Amino acid sequence: MKFGHFDDKAREYVIETPHTPYPWINYLGNEEFFALVSNTAGGYAFYKDARLRRLTRYRYNDVPLDANGRHFYIKDGDTVWNPGFKPTRTPLDFYECRHGFGYTKIAGSKNGVRADLLLFVPNGANAEVQVLTLRNDSKKRKKLVLTSFVEWCLWNAQDDCTNFQRNFSTGEVEVLGGAIYHKTEYRERRDHYAFYSVNAKPDGFDTDRETFLGPDAGYDAPRAVLSGKAGNSVADGWSPIASHQLKVELKPGESKSFVFVLGYVEVPEKDKWAKKPERGLLQTNPAMAVVNKAPALALQKRFSTVAKAMREFRALRAFWDAQLSHFSLSGTGDAKLERMALWNQYQCVVTYNFARSASYFESGIGRGIGFRDTSQDMLGVVHQMAPRARARLFDVAATQFPDGSAYHQFQPLTKRGNADIGSNFNDDPLWLVLGVGAYVRETGDAAFLEEMVPFDNSPTDKATLYEHLRRSFHYTVDHLGPHGLPLIGRADWNDCLNLNCFSKDPNDSFQCCTNKDGKNAESVMIAQMFCYVAPDYAALSRLAGREEEAAFAEREAAKMEKAICKAGWDGEWFLRAYDDFGHRIGSKACEDGKIFIETQGFGSMARIGADKGYPIKALDSVKKHLDTPWGIVILDPPYRRYHLELGEVSSYPPGYKENGGVFCHNNPWVIVGEVANGRPQRAWEYYVKIAPAYLEEKSDVHRLEPYVYAQMVAGKAARRHGEAKNSWLTGTAAWNFVALSQWICGVRAEFGGLRAEPRLPAHVKKATIRRDWRGVRYEIRVENRRNDGPVRLEVVSGKATVDGTLVRAARGEKKVVLRAVVG
Ligand code: BGC
Ligand code: NOJ
Repeated sequence: MKFGHFDDKAREYVIETPHTPYPWINYLGNEEFFALVSNTAGGYAFYKDARLRRLTRYRYNDVPLDANGRHFYIKDGDTVWNPGFKPTRTPLDFYECRHGFGYTKIAGSKNGVRADLLLFVPNGANAEVQVLTLRNDSKKRKKLVLTSFVEWCLWNAQDDCTNFQRNFSTGEVEVLGGAIYHKTEYRERRDHYAFYSVNAKPDGFDTDRETFLGPDAGYDAPRAVLSGKAGNSVADGWSPIASHQLKVELKPGESKSFVFVLGYVEVPEKDKWAKKPERGLLQTNPAMAVVNKAPALALQKRFSTVAKAMREFRALRAFWDAQLSHFSLSGTGDAKLERMALWNQYQCVVTYNFARSASYFESGIGRGIGFRDTSQDMLGVVHQMAPRARARLFDVAATQFPDGSAYHQFQPLTKRGNADIGSNFNDDPLWLVLGVGAYVRETGDAAFLEEMVPFDNSPTDKATLYEHLRRSFHYTVDHLGPHGLPLIGRADWNDCLNLNCFSKDPNDSFQCCTNKDGKNAESVMIAQMFCYVAPDYAALSRLAGREEEAAFAEREAAKMEKAICKAGWDGEWFLRAYDDFGHRIGSKACEDGKIFIETQGFGSMARIGADKGYPIKALDSVKKHLDTPWGIVILDPPYRRYHLELGEVSSYPPGYKENGGVFCHNNPWVIVGEVANGRPQRAWEYYVKIAPAYLEEKSDVHRLEPYVYAQMVAGKAARRHGEAKNSWLTGTAAWNFVALSQWICGVRAEFGGLRAEPRLPAHVKKATIRRDWRGVRYEIRVENRRNDGPVRLEVVSGKATVDGTLVRAARGEKKVVLRAVVG
């Protein structure tokens, strides 16, 4: 069953009903100001950091779900409705939500009135712009009352939902003309305030939630809305809100538009206050100083007319079209595949922007930016926005400790490592090498390696980025266990393999509890990752003029491969790890958890033991034991009892999360492994099982957005097999883009050229792949005769050298057209 459709021409996903199985959301903002928006206009906004600078309030896991957002109420006689259906839930005559790149449009109509709402965050503005148009499609004159509504969060979202003894007394506002200012705590240590404005003179307003709602009503029936009379309330503590009320008269056929702006302003300390209160100003306490509104007024002026707002909107659309143009796929005859090529890149940018902080599954208060997570996210964005990837990689490296280990997470606002979580996830350092490798392969920017980067944000302890990578690589070499395999620390990629934790206390966090000395438990996955990143590290060493270190890296990788073949192979597949007792994890000898996906994926990508046929054997075991109609499960059989020596992995019910769910993040490792080992068709069969555009018709079971990946789909052992959770913010986005662009399309940035080795599915006979690389547009026209056959690459136009499947444009060339005949 479907709940909408792709409008490929408009580049939008069109949701046709407000009754999606779960709120289907989108993200606004791409620089410093961000907002989440659901298909019923739910969600919230924040500046830079979803925890520390939250503008509007959101209650997760609330009932009814997704009740907070930007609400527009339309009162037409006795009928009150919202264009996005919620919160009144008045049935609509027409409803549609279009999620596009960086914007959302919601349209609703009722009794002959149509409302069109456009929401976007323009580039270069700390504001969510809302253009609302009301149109009278009836034959009668309409007298409507339009009421807007947002609820302020008292900035620190964590504190906002816990520290009520303080918060109920601190709220402060100002009201001037069409703008409502939220200035709680501005008087003391804050240099920022927010506002919500409309480009018209309102007939009424409210800033006090209780006055607006009435003593016992919810958002579905606010007193100010039902009565059509705003309370003109000035908040004094409790819960400040911002609501405008406008009387709108429309002749038949007439329409009127309004621009609402939800803005954020920072003012340097010396300029914080206005010289004197403006005429007509209302504020919580008239004895108090008044905020300097100059920057807010400038922002309001920028969007003071619909024409101005729409100009900014068109600029935003052009920006996104350019942003998503550096890789594209066309002429395949498979619309779903082409949708994936586009929407997957969009999701990659969103994961760059939001890391794992704010989604409908991440509360925005729990986690900052993960060291491992964001390093992997770079794989999906280096080709689209290399300078921003560079800046992020710098920030990541700056949270590394001098010994090469790293903080597992850091806060985006402060860029400081998160001490609550700490370090000791032993895979972390290697992801940095992977991220920097991808960036340098993309850009050739060897100067980055020489840039001075702090350790643990210290102003004095700094070294070159290359030295950071060296310490990352050596961290693994210097922390080997009894089998010569890397010690796992608190966990590797699989956060739930907590082999040094042994926790019996339900109050422990699995990830933070460590009560073993860490000298025994080893990770086969880290060993394989080490072999996988070693060639990049060696190449980076050569770029940095460290030939000796490059040779060292190659020797160590060869040693590691030997260790894996000796102690990390179980006969039919790669083992997963050794526990603290030296017992095998992920072995046929185990009671449960006999085989894990991670090591089959990384082992086959790194082609460990290829001379012995290990990668193919491992991949065949994946097919046999882990494949399902909904993708490849992470392990099998799931753990049925709690294993003290394994930790969180055995705490999840069978079929969920790390205990047997389909992790869309590591399915692509197997996909890449299949292509790299010569089986593109099987890779494709896996690809379509989890690619959201291919699941659209099964949305009633899958339940989440068909335009983005989710982290996890319930596995075969779960009652709700096929149901997805945790959409949007997941390394899944980047890795599936790697699988699609670099392996299925076969276009890979290498240090010395662009590799073009398409391995498209058999049903795609022809395709055009466009890829910008180092300032040159490469257009590859593929003829796909037999997708596992040899690839012949020839230049059609433009000057370039071709060496096998490696192409490099001549100096000064801007466009190269190639023909690739496969098979
Ligand atoms: C989840 C993991 C996640 C970790 C860190 C665990 O409970 O299962 O997927 O990475 O928490 O927040
Ligand atoms: C989600 C985390 O963000 C990621 O770092 C981890 O690798 C996976 N869960 C698997 O546990």
